[in-house]
Amino acid sequence: MNAPNVRTFSNTRELSVSLADLTVKLCEESIEIRDRFTIGISGGSLPKLLAADLKNREDIEWDKWHVFFCDERLVPLDHEDSNYLLCKKEFFDHVPIPEDQIYTIDSSLLPQLEQAVKKGAEATEEASLEIVEDYEQKLISVFATVNAVKFPVFDLLLLGVGPDGHTCSLFPDHPLLDLTIGWVAYIGDSPKPPPRRVTFTLPVINHAHNITFVATGEGKQDVLKEIIENPECRLPAALVQPTTGKLYWFLDDAAALNLTSS
Ligand code: 6PG
Repeated sequence: MNAPNVRTFSNTRELSVSLADLTVKLCEESIEIRDRFTIGISGGSLPKLLAADLKNREDIEWDKWHVFFCDERLVPLDHEDSNYLLCKKEFFDHVPIPEDQIYTIDSSLLPQLEQAVKKGAEATEEASLEIVEDYEQKLISVFATVNAVKFPVFDLLLLGVGPDGHTCSLFPDHPLLDLTIGWVAYIGDSPKPPPRRVTFTLPVINHAHNITFVATGEGKQDVLKEIIENPECRLPAALVQPTTGKLYWFLDDAAALNLTSS
């Protein structure tokens, strides 16, 4: 595994400018090599930090972007908890990424999941599988058009981290951490609300060409020290170890305060 590249910034404004610089660089490199830019975005504070500077940049080939969600809450796309809605308000509404290259969950499948949850575990599994399979098909449509692929290889995945060490909707000690196959997984008991979500699996995350964690604020100090500096750490974010890709950490000074190197 490559050593992580930790960058710290005195404020979120500087962080956003540098995050935009890196995204533009990776975007240009990816378009040069693969004629497209595939990116996965997480929820939480990330969309705002990403878009703050990036949305004002010129000369970006937005029509080459293919955008997925590293995790998504299973709520309608116009619900205030939807990661899509958050990204739309912060980012998509301000840049000309073609709508059909922004890959959302199929929200028409949500009512049947709600019904299934009332019926029990078996029905829930079946209904959640439909949502998972739909999203996997969307990944297949972009990543497996030429050759069969074992896992999608994103040009860039942007991840957040919770104070408990979760990333995407992969939470500490959760059985989803053990998945070695499958691209997208359902979680019905997310400790961070809302409880029902879909998430990329660790193998998908770890196959990416580039992974960038973004974390700000003092609430992340302790967990970041553990994840970045303790090689024995088994928290979900510490299990993000790209097989051949690059790993970046973008932190503000508050989040990085306890790091030995900061
Ligand atoms: C979600 C996220 C989640 C998030 C972290 C960090 O939809 O809940 O994708 O994994 O990235 O909880 O969130 P903050 O950046 O807001 O702390």
